[in-house]
Amino acid sequence: MLDRIRSRFRRKPSGKTLSPDNIPQHVAIIMDGNGRWAKSRGLPRVAGHHSGMKAVKRITMAADRLGIKYLTLYAFSTENWKRPKSEVDFLMKLPQEFLAIELEELIANNVQVRMMGYKEELPPHTLQAVETAMERTAGNTGLVLNFALNYGSRKEMMDTVRQLCDEAAKGQLEPDKLTEADFESRLLSGGMPDPDLLIRTSGELRISNFMMWQLAYSELWFTEVYWPEFSEEHFLEAVSEYQRRARRYGGL
Ligand code: FPP
Repeated sequence: MLDRIRSRFRRKPSGKTLSPDNIPQHVAIIMDGNGRWAKSRGLPRVAGHHSGMKAVKRITMAADRLGIKYLTLYAFSTENWKRPKSEVDFLMKLPQEFLAIELEELIANNVQVRMMGYKEELPPHTLQAVETAMERTAGNTGLVLNFALNYGSRKEMMDTVRQLCDEAAKGQLEPDKLTEADFESRLLSGGMPDPDLLIRTSGELRISNFMMWQLAYSELWFTEVYWPEFSEEHFLEAVSEYQRRARRYGGL
């Protein structure tokens, strides 16, 4: 037991420990730089994505050890369909490959797999792998590993607006009495707390249509490191920086 607690609060590179009382509840990550990582090694882009899949495992386990409750990973955006078909096909095979290798260990670690995104356009083999994982882990109570797959924030918000209009037209809600909670509960992330910390790798300083409503008060942390090289140490560095921030939510 003591070992488990100690391992959760392992030492940061600076030698200081993380505060157990201020672990972010929800961390979201824009996993960027797979292509550039591959190019810098003379490899095809898909080799970067494959290596990125290993980083997914590494960071999931690190998040679990730290006691983070929700980890949302931007695995495929609604805009990523514009990429060459061969790359899209490869990306669509990754959830299946990842879950074939890792699902048993995720289950053993009490991890709950979820998906946030539009299922309709996903190839059957991708959807089936994710749905099987979701079903098999539905009763788990540990880390929620939430894959943002075929996800786009503008579409999510537009769909929510459409749904609210529809409900109003049917007389099921009064527009004047609409609350932020009403809107939030209809988003794809409904039921999850907003991310406390957003990490983006690869040096890009953009949100890229990711959780734009939910990130309103999140702490943002960027690193030059490409996603395939993102290590547990980097992750702990991000959490450590998060713990140094004063969150004021617009107040003093
Ligand atoms: C962005 O890097 C990355 C993606 C669009 C795909 C992210 C997917 C993974 C990390 C693997 C997901 C694994 C599972 C299990 C779902 P990029 O290709 O845009 O990199 P670049 O900007 O350097 O070209």
